Amino acid sequence: MTLLEASKISHRFDYPLFDDIDLRLDAGESLCIIGVSGSGKSTLLHILSTLLMPQSGQVRILGQSVGGLDNRALVALRRDVLGLIFQAHYLFKGFSAYENLEVAALLGGKTIEPELIEKLGIAQVIRQKVTELSGGQQQRVSIARVLTKQPKIIFADEPTGNLDHATAAEVMELFLSYLQERDAGMVLVTHDESIAYRCDRVYRLEERRLVRCQ
Ligand SMILES: Nc1ncnc2c1ncn2[C@@H]1O[C@H](COP(=O)(O)OP(=O)(O)OP(=O)(O)O)[C@@H](O)[C@H]1O
Ligand SMILES: [Mg+2]
Repeated sequence: MTLLEASKISHRFDYPLFDDIDLRLDAGESLCIIGVSGSGKSTLLHILSTLLMPQSGQVRILGQSVGGLDNRALVALRRDVLGLIFQAHYLFKGFSAYENLEVAALLGGKTIEPELIEKLGIAQVIRQKVTELSGGQQQRVSIARVLTKQPKIIFADEPTGNLDHATAAEVMELFLSYLQERDAGMVLVTHDESIAYRCDRVYRLEERRLVRCQ
């Protein structure tokens, strides 16, 4: 089953970032985009995840063309199908970590899995306010919150950027087992090659194209 299909995506800001990019993600698959800082990885992830409309080309999610959706349909798609884990994670600051998960569970009609909290190593701090947590703990709460929604496609931009090596590797394994359990897909952006090469496919964004490296 194809979860996402991007065809002939081109985008530029002051200068062209990429041209005619084609990409496809199937259920159960993980895909990683690497590349030097400023090459356009985050921009491409924003386009694939419906947050930014490309200047040309088309993104289809679950067979539906994103460009053809109105605002209401886009909001529903993001809520029900997509899980976004970005560099600036928008946790609700006045709430505890657990309350942040409760909001996600409520919105998605899902239940919180204690096992998830345990596996992410945040059980000790789950009742604390988000503002009292370390950067890495906040990052893991935002991962827990996204997985609680049980998304079909995860888009993650440096999801392990604030974590030590061992914790990052554990979080990556958690993602991969989630994909298998739920038959979901993931598009990951990272500078950490040891994380990147755990994915089924790896592409480097260079000279405006995606070059396959695994
Ligand atoms: N909204 C915007 N308006 C104008 N230029 C932008 C915008 N967003 C990104 N850019 C530019 O596009 C280029 C690519 O940015 P992007 O954030 O996609 O890079 P990146 O590969 O994710 O880098 P990093 O590894 O540092 O996160 C940069 O030169 C950036 O300044
Ligand atoms: Mg980036």
